[in-house]
Formats: sequence, C-alpha cells, structure tokens
Amino acid sequence: MKQFPPSELLNSLPKQFFASLVKKVGEYISQGYDVINLGQGNPDQPTPAHIVAKLQEAAVNPINHKYSPFQGHSYLKKAVADYYLREYGVTIDPTKEVAILFGGKAGLVEIPQCLLNPGDTILVPDPGYPDYLSGVALAKAEMVMMPLKEDKNFLPDYTELNEKDLEKAKVMFLNYPNNPTGAVATCEFFEETIKLASDHDICIVHDFAYGAIGFDGQKPLSFLQLEGAKEVGIEIYTLSKTYNMAGWRVGFAVGNESVISAIELMQDHLYVSLFGAVQEAAAEALTGPQDCVKELNELYERRRNVLIDGLRSLGWNVNAPNGSFFAWLKVPKGYSSSEFANILLDQAHIMVAPGIGFGEFGEGYVRVGLLSSEERLAKAVERISRLEIFKKIY
Ligand SMILES: Cc1ncc(COP(=O)(O)O)c(C=O)c1O
Repeated sequence: MKQFPPSELLNSLPKQFFASLVKKVGEYISQGYDVINLGQGNPDQPTPAHIVAKLQEAAVNPINHKYSPFQGHSYLKKAVADYYLREYGVTIDPTKEVAILFGGKAGLVEIPQCLLNPGDTILVPDPGYPDYLSGVALAKAEMVMMPLKEDKNFLPDYTELNEKDLEKAKVMFLNYPNNPTGAVATCEFFEETIKLASDHDICIVHDFAYGAIGFDGQKPLSFLQLEGAKEVGIEIYTLSKTYNMAGWRVGFAVGNESVISAIELMQDHLYVSLFGAVQEAAAEALTGPQDCVKELNELYERRRNVLIDGLRSLGWNVNAPNGSFFAWLKVPKGYSSSEFANILLDQAHIMVAPGIGFGEFGEGYVRVGLLSSEERLAKAVERISRLEIFKKIY
C-alpha cells in the first residue's frame, strides 16, 4: 500500500512521553498482575444521574438532531454566566464573553493558533499539562518556559523572566489548581499577574480545569474574580472534572471579549457546535443541584488523606496537594523520576507518572492521581512499605 507521509506540521508535534509507560502497564496487566494505576488523570466516578437524565430526555428531542447554532446555544452561554455569578460573583456577558468548547483541551490547543503568528512568543509553565505544547507547535510559536518551583509554592517567579522575553511574549498559560503539582493560586499572585500582563500586553489564559477541587475548606480562586482580569485574559473551564463528564467533551472559555471572538471565529471554521443534547445536559450540570460537586470534593480529600498520611507514616516526607486530584511527590535522593516510576511499576505494580514528562522542572517528582478508591490507595501505600529500596532510603 502507498505510504503518504505526514506533513511537517504533524511531524513537529511533541511526542507522547507517557506512551512507553502505558505500554509497560498493559504488559503487566496482560500477564495477570494487579496493577494499581495512579498514573493517569481520568475521573473514575460516573456523571451525576440528573445530568445523564437530562441528556436522555434531550437526545429524543428532534430539535437536537439538527445542526446546533454555530457558536452554541444561548441557553448554555447564559448558564455559564449564571454559574460564574453564583460561584465567583463574576459578571459575564453571555453574548460576548463566553465561547463553548469541545472540552478544555480543544480550547487550549486552539488558542495559540488564534492569537499567535509563527515565531511569536508564549510563556508556558514547567512542569505543565503536556497539551499546551501541542497548540504551541501547531501555531509554530516559540515557548519560553516559566519554572514552577517548590520553594515558590509552584507559582512562577516573574522576576526570573528576562525583560526581552517579557517584551516579546503575547500569551501566557497558567493553571491553578495545578496539574501536576496540586498547588493553588493566591490573590496576590493573580494581582501580580494582571499587572505584568497589562504592563507587557500579554494575554493570560488561565486553565481552571480543577476549579472545583480545593482541599481543607479552600475554594480555588477564579482568575476572573480579580479586578482587571477580564481586561487581560480569559479562563478555560471544563465540565470534565467538576461533574465527571470527561467523555462528554464540553467546556467553555470566559472573559476578554476579543479573545472569545477569536476563538469563536476559529471554531466557525473547524466545527459546528456540540450536540444539542450535550449542551442541554451541560446547562443542567451548571445550574442544577450542586451537592454532587461537594461530595466529589470530599471524596478526593479523603483519598488525599489516605495517601499522604499513609506515605508520611512510612517516613516519606511528602507534600499534601491543596487542590486538583494529583499529589506531587518528591522522589527519594539518588533516583530520577523515570527510574523511581519504573521501580514502583516493576516491584510494586503501581503506575505513577514521572515528573520529567511534564517538563524539565518536573524532574525529581512523580505525579500520583487520586482517581482510585481509598482501599486501593491504602493498598498502594502498603505495597510501597514493602519495597526494598524504600527500606534502605528511609
Ligand atoms: C490541566 C488540564 N487542563 C485541561 C485539561 C483538559 O480537560 P478536558 O479536555 O477534558 O476539558 C486537563 C485534563 O486532564 C488538564 O489536566
């Protein structure tokens, strides 16, 4: 058969770092091993029943069998505005300040192409969600990495950026609660960000994927809660994590009108909007009963406590995440993040994600997902306690 080579653009896309690890996990499972998979970020709980019921009801309505309006249904945009007002006290104009997305990932990959020309500069957190790099590659833009370090609570230190890069930068990605570090943002940090953005004309794209997951009674801050935020940026929200709707592919961008209209223009060319029944169900999720969100948050917090308390009881001095459903654990001295992840997989049949897969500054850490039951997490701790290397180190 003829082989048609992919374009240079496709070849320029970043390689999937975790593919080899996922393959190895598959091999262990096919050999009958009970692998505890703490490496991936797929919510394990079902979508709440009232949201599924709305989808079922909406799926039989012939109006939803037609094309949806190109930029999405106005009732969903209104639901988004109601959600921001209710949850964050932020006023959003649903006609100009909301774009409906096929999940957060789609928006995050589209944005560099909406705002950047080839060779333009974008500031990207390191470690960070790997899909940021995909959008940047498609836009043929240049990245300047912003290190997230433990001694700065995994917030970028803007004083470390050089003036030339700041002058060139047109866009900055941020993400709090943070994947992979579990860090949360503060008001002061967002204020500093808004000042920097307005001084240097940088558009801030705050990825708020884990907006609903904050621990110890702390509700994560929306970037838009800060005065002046809408002037300089947008927030990307997804229903994937808040309502366990990862498979449904629905999210939205909110904030700066010019950026929202750029996203809508791009999407007019790429797609017709989401299935109407998914939009109805998404509106129900945002405006319907919210006990499910509280319960989910409590579930993740209990899991976090099982994992962190368990590991600390072994003498491993790990940090507890403040938000997101990930724990970011410093690996024992003498091991790289990949070596340590391989030891956990080979000797304890536990999969974790090596930090280096999230960027250079992820080296020295592994990311552990809180997407397995308390029992499984306790079992993981028990398996770790029996590791030889662990006994030698601690
Ligand atoms: C930091 C971050 N942003 C965005 C997303 C995208 O989520 P979705 O495309 O399901 O909305 C994820 C998903 O894992 C994520 O971890």
